[in-house]
Amino acid sequence: MCGIIGVLSDHEVAPILLEALKRLEYRGYDSAGIATVQNGALDRRRAVGKLHNLSDLLVYEPLAGRIGIGHTRWATHGGPTVKNAHPHLAGRVVVVHNGIIENFRELKERMPGRSFESDTDTETVAHLCETFMEKGLSPREAAAETLKHLEGAFALAFLFEGEEDLIVAARKGSPLAIGHGDGEMYVGSDAIALSPLTDRITYLEEGDYAFVTRAGVEIHDVEGRLANRETRAIAAQAAQVDKAGHKHFMAKEIFEQPTVLSECLSYYASGDRVDVPDFQIDFAGTDRLIMVACGTAHYACQVAKYWFEQLAGLPCDVDIASEFRYREPPVSDRATALFVSQSGETADTLAALRYAREKARSVISIVNVAESSIARESDAALPILAGVEIGVASTKAFVNQLGALANLAILAGRQRGHLTEAREAELVTTLRSLPGLINQALALEERIRTVTGRIAEAQSVLFLGRGPMFPMALEGALKLKEISYIHAEGYASGELKHGPIALVDKSVPVIVLAPRDALFDKTVSNMQEVMARDGLVWLVSDAEGIEAAGHGVWETLVMPKVDPILAPLLYAVPAQLIAYHTALHKGTDVDQPRNLAKSVTVE
Ligand code: F6R
Repeated sequence: MCGIIGVLSDHEVAPILLEALKRLEYRGYDSAGIATVQNGALDRRRAVGKLHNLSDLLVYEPLAGRIGIGHTRWATHGGPTVKNAHPHLAGRVVVVHNGIIENFRELKERMPGRSFESDTDTETVAHLCETFMEKGLSPREAAAETLKHLEGAFALAFLFEGEEDLIVAARKGSPLAIGHGDGEMYVGSDAIALSPLTDRITYLEEGDYAFVTRAGVEIHDVEGRLANRETRAIAAQAAQVDKAGHKHFMAKEIFEQPTVLSECLSYYASGDRVDVPDFQIDFAGTDRLIMVACGTAHYACQVAKYWFEQLAGLPCDVDIASEFRYREPPVSDRATALFVSQSGETADTLAALRYAREKARSVISIVNVAESSIARESDAALPILAGVEIGVASTKAFVNQLGALANLAILAGRQRGHLTEAREAELVTTLRSLPGLINQALALEERIRTVTGRIAEAQSVLFLGRGPMFPMALEGALKLKEISYIHAEGYASGELKHGPIALVDKSVPVIVLAPRDALFDKTVSNMQEVMARDGLVWLVSDAEGIEAAGHGVWETLVMPKVDPILAPLLYAVPAQLIAYHTALHKGTDVDQPRNLAKSVTVE
């Protein structure tokens, strides 16, 4: 959700800013821009669309300067146009921003004489700061004063005319990090942006603002007091952001799943028992589990509901964060709340966590970014160890979220006396076999590529699943929508006849995700109902399932056999590859699909 970079150097900064923006492009790609100070004067370049448009512009209109800020935008207020692109300039101040200034209209009204160029909330920040400078405040004082008037969520970086050794950075609600180099200093939305520049990072905390100069950084807390924030080394993984020979990050991340899932599983189990390091929460003392997340992470929670209920006998609610946070749901002091987020910064999930923290017995999070706000604000933050995920459509993070959740459900089952030692050992062994089975599923890529040629022609696609495969149907449909722009819906197989079957005709592919389990025959009946209406059924099942029910279907995909309760981890692979290859057939932008961004730090 917008990426920010700032650099103070002894060299020209435009190329450094551009390189860093490339690493931040996954956060938004509606427009990009940079600003510098050269001989005391502010100047900027901005371009609509992907970053290469800005690079092209800089060839014809280079920008000199040894201090600068840059931005890659995911549009919220105002369309993706040059005038709405950051950095935003007002007099002697230029600003880049990630987040939303909620009171920007009110602030604008308080500055009647000023003329605004853009439709954005951000431009108000630059103007407000400029008005304080006009009243005689120094750049530092004006920026600090401006922050007091802003409501909403923001990460901000300010640059000033006449100041070639100062960037003011501020954070409230959106993450921001300061990087320490040798004689150089940096500001960035995340460690990925800064990783090749430095391995020493200081994360700003909520409400902090910082005066960054080449000599170092002075950080103040929300009250304006000097604050001491720890500087730490960034994990090596943050630096690994290449495609490793794949055409897209998404493909790389899909094919990394056997490796990253193995790492995740080794963290959560030793021998044939689940053993979660430094985890003190006992599920025996809880009477309800409340799981909250957004998007794909929410579907991971929906899968896990089946696990917590069946393996641990633990009543479970699953909620979408944007609904949970405002619904005022009663949360008992015996409930455990669990939040799942790849980025750990999703605004709605963080707000839901803060709501639950006041009420629940304990708050657990499952995150990919260990330093994230969601991790920091939980009683226990569990890692998924998926490594950096760049593709906007989540793949390996989803599978590793499932890996972590499955282990937690098994642990809960043991703690609540619901699982025998033998069943625990069986489940842990099955989990361990999954990376190998995922490898076998990845080998089905060519078959999937061929069949998706027909899917790419469809206007609408349905995914069906039953039990823990129902949320997988939702996830399959989400992946397809996101990157191929084909309308897709996931349904519980048994629900189809209650309405959505009206959509079925010979032009609608219906992808049935159905390992041979206890309810397989019921799913097959639902599939027959589709076939009776000329629907094109693609049955994704194991050899037994295909043998029993594959006759007369349009297509089949023979998956490896796995304990059905853990099948979602395996069936994620065909769901991802179907979306990926359909998108390739359609020629859409797989890693940066339209209208989306990776880290959603606005409501
Ligand atoms: C879909 C996708 C999104 C995210 C959602 C939550 O492929 O990636 O639906 O799952 O925006 O993001 P996190 O997990 O970072 O909270």
